[in-house]
Amino acid sequence: MEAKGSEWWSGETVAVVTGANRGIGLEICRQLADKGLTVIMTARKPQEQLSSSAKQFLQDAAELGRKNVIFHTLDIAQEQSVLDFVDWLKLHVGNIDILVNNAAIQTAEIDWLFLKQNHVDVITFLGTPDCGRVTSESHELAKECIHTNYHGTKTLTNALLPLLRPTPYKARIIMVSSVAGLLYYLRDEELKKQLSEVEDLTEQKIEGVLNLFLEDLKSEKGMEKWPLQLPAYSTSKAAMNAYTRLLASKLKGIACVNSVHPGLVRTDLSEYNGNLSAPEGAENIVRVALFPVGGPSGHNFLEREDSEF
Ligand SMILES: NC(=O)c1ccc[n+]([C@@H]2O[C@H](COP(=O)([O-])OP(=O)(O)OC[C@H]3O[C@@H](n4cnc5c(N)ncnc54)[C@H](OP(=O)(O)O)[C@@H]3O)[C@@H](O)[C@H]2O)c1
Repeated sequence: MEAKGSEWWSGETVAVVTGANRGIGLEICRQLADKGLTVIMTARKPQEQLSSSAKQFLQDAAELGRKNVIFHTLDIAQEQSVLDFVDWLKLHVGNIDILVNNAAIQTAEIDWLFLKQNHVDVITFLGTPDCGRVTSESHELAKECIHTNYHGTKTLTNALLPLLRPTPYKARIIMVSSVAGLLYYLRDEELKKQLSEVEDLTEQKIEGVLNLFLEDLKSEKGMEKWPLQLPAYSTSKAAMNAYTRLLASKLKGIACVNSVHPGLVRTDLSEYNGNLSAPEGAENIVRVALFPVGGPSGHNFLEREDSEF
């Protein structure tokens, strides 16, 4: 790989992006491809069923004769889909340099109209008990949210670790997280401690916290330990952040692993509420993916700000 100035990447630099059918994921692919990297654009739908904007992006790339955008189906919540994708990658691509874990779901209902009419911004909403009445979430949906956002992301990441290219530039893993995943929103000191003590973190510990969340939700014995709003989504992202720290420590010297909140971005997930466009949200992710050599690992960024977890 040749590097120009602080640009350590080239056309041989391979980036895998998940959840690229729409929203921020699609824009991450566009920006990485525009910078000349080879982009493995993935989505849970097969190519013929992609959104019109994803199809247009692939069609434009083909018409321009661009060989640096390759599509493959990948449903991170389906283990077989992950295995098939990794087999295909090994056979047709080989090593990868960047993994952007962007795919996620948010399964609580939010009454955006209520928030708008009462001038409640999302940050206030996340921390305000009075807004609690505007969200609802079943146990089944909460389980699906945690399964996709945490277990799906972890399964894919672990399966791709052997393919990370060993280079002086270091491979990069970016967890597209959320401000909702800050430990601040967990309302139990012991839980915060469990997810924050990096030296004692294990996958089992993180999964123990997620199992406890689902048990508490099912037993309805009380959700007082858990985030007030979007409890499953917030808890899944807090677990993802803990996994970022665990992986950063495990891959020290091999890869940079960071979490990034893209901002409040107008996409389907936010029902088009937010102060940023999808390209602006994607820029916050791409910036971290392409940090100059020697950049941070084990950090959490809220948009462009280095933040506590
Ligand atoms: N928008 C915001 O304000 C905001 C704020 C903080 C964090 N984020 C994070 O930013 C990331 C992107 O969100 P977005 O706003 O772009 O949301 P979005 O428009 O809803 O896009 C999410 C994408 O993830 C895909 N996806 C869901 N489950 C999947 C699975 N099992 N396997 C593969 N792909 C899957 C969806 O696929 P389909 O198209 O097939 O449904 C969709 O393309 C997420 O991690 C989200 O948590 C967003």
